[in-house]
Amino acid sequence: MFSHKLMESELAVAVNTEAHSQLVEIFRNDTSDLPDGERKLEPAHCVLTTQYLQVAERILNLTVYEDDVWIVTFPKCGTTWTQEMVWLIDHDLDYDTASKIDLTRRSVFMEIGWFFKAFPHDTIAAVENLPRPRHIKSHLPQALLPKQLWTVKPRIVYCARNPKDVAVSFMHHYRHLHGYNGPQETFLEALLAEQVLYCPQIKHVLDFWNIRHLDNILFIHYEDMKMQMTDVLKEVSNFFKKSYTDDQLKKLAEHLSFAVMKKNPSANNTLLLEELGKLTGKKIEFEFMRRGEAGCHKDELTPEYLERLRVYIDQQLQGTNFKYREVSSI
Ligand code: A3P
Repeated sequence: MFSHKLMESELAVAVNTEAHSQLVEIFRNDTSDLPDGERKLEPAHCVLTTQYLQVAERILNLTVYEDDVWIVTFPKCGTTWTQEMVWLIDHDLDYDTASKIDLTRRSVFMEIGWFFKAFPHDTIAAVENLPRPRHIKSHLPQALLPKQLWTVKPRIVYCARNPKDVAVSFMHHYRHLHGYNGPQETFLEALLAEQVLYCPQIKHVLDFWNIRHLDNILFIHYEDMKMQMTDVLKEVSNFFKKSYTDDQLKKLAEHLSFAVMKKNPSANNTLLLEELGKLTGKKIEFEFMRRGEAGCHKDELTPEYLERLRVYIDQQLQGTNFKYREVSSI
């Protein structure tokens, strides 16, 4: 089903870290089992690691249940935020359990154990053993996700974020969580050249945008959560066939606000950072909840890089009707 190519370019090697095995580009040419959308699907490819190759088929053939809830994103698009929101909405706002069980255990990141070398758990087995309804996080592109998603049709929430802010957020994330210690410019070059884990980024979004009309898909934007959370909460509640009062939604919005989530040890990824720190033997001095803003690229990226990113985004979006939310237009 899959073929792959080792990524041996100078840039791919420079940006990879000791936390992973070698980067590979995984290809899936036959995508005929994927759902139809507005756009004809092209053969799919994604940057992962040689370690991931061991489980690519296992993931593709994973058993999916109708009551599963999948949270799918490109990295740094507000996955954690979406996970906490979705878990609470799907669990009748059970703040008590949410405070007692870490989000990484309530909503399991399926493939993390297969690109971080020596990750202590088999995270695919953890997904298999989750009590139902299982909440599952993945950054995999559509074509690498379990095939049964398209026949069993559980709910999938997809969250997009403007790539300019993703670039900044991913850069900090790679440095602190993956141990990247090269220049910032090299990482940014590699991202533009699609030589970083999970690239290509824009095709990832377009493949889900393409099927947003399906009843089991909800497509949301990070910037909408930031600017009009109440509307997003209503949309997500409707998607889960839940009805909450204005007061309940207000309390939920407060719980999900950056300031509150940043201090919430059960949802701010403290446990994940501790686990990753143990892998490297170094305490990770980084707050996963970093800035939490729409538009942070403005003071963290140069105008030259932003212009190149703009050209790249425009080229990738040509011929589609998808638009990222722009801070200036919000
Ligand atoms: P920044 O690095 O720009 O601060 P992911 O969970 O996909 O890795 O995304 C992480 C990004 O989402 C980080 O962005 C993080 O700060 C932001 N984030 C997490 N929770 C948030 C919240 N409650 N409100 C706003 N942003 C949040």
